[in-house]
Amino acid sequence: MKIGFFDSGIGGITVLHQALKLLPNEEYLFYADTSNVPYGEKTKEEVKKYIFQVVEFLANQGIEALVIACNTATSIAANDLRRTYNFPILGIEPAVKPAVQNSKGNAKKVLVMATNLTLQEEKFHSLVQSVDKNDVVDFIALPGLVELAEKFKFDDETVIPYLEDALYPLNLYDYGTVVLGCTHFPYFTNSIKNILPKGVDIISGSVGTAKNLDRILKSRDQNNQSKLDIKFFKSGNLITDKETLDKYWKLFEKLDELKL
Ligand code: DGL
Repeated sequence: MKIGFFDSGIGGITVLHQALKLLPNEEYLFYADTSNVPYGEKTKEEVKKYIFQVVEFLANQGIEALVIACNTATSIAANDLRRTYNFPILGIEPAVKPAVQNSKGNAKKVLVMATNLTLQEEKFHSLVQSVDKNDVVDFIALPGLVELAEKFKFDDETVIPYLEDALYPLNLYDYGTVVLGCTHFPYFTNSIKNILPKGVDIISGSVGTAKNLDRILKSRDQNNQSKLDIKFFKSGNLITDKETLDKYWKLFEKLDELKL
């Protein structure tokens, strides 16, 4: 089956990486909208326009299912996209519900890390309101991590000072669970672990999205493709140069190394 994945950039690969574990024999089209990254720092209207351009492109390539591998794009456009296209559309949202559940076990607060736009959206606030009965959820935007990921800068020497500075106003000992509410953030799991007190659980929604995709394809009995194929696109152009392709493939190795 031909499945489209898209994100503003390389963040979506963290979701595709999980999908490959469950559905290793499908045809994937991965679209990074790198001309318009970061989505999280733009207006809702602007980002929605970009998202529709991306999905129209993927629809023209004949995709039979779409994964919005971006929390920001999901919160801005998932419902509108579902009204416009007939193929199944799956999104990803900050894993607030399992985090609140987890907080009952460790009696500590939850910190959601995401983009500014995700955190501004009504969708996020209604999600929090529906599950956060004991007022344990705090949130913070970390746009710098999107920027660093897009520069393929994952080293502790660069990342840790940024995180220390951004998280300075918080008492990190208050938290028992951190939600990675942006698909660019899992690359930084080790640095995030390094600055948090020991024992804080880090969760993201990508496993849940991959499971949903698997379930939907199985229910349609269409996931019997025999061979894996992945094509990468950067804002409408098929990536063919070896250097960029190698960089993308290395990201899967990085995520394997992180044991995500
Ligand atoms: N990766 C995206 C997300 O999950 C957005 C990053 C950005 O473009 O700001 O929210």
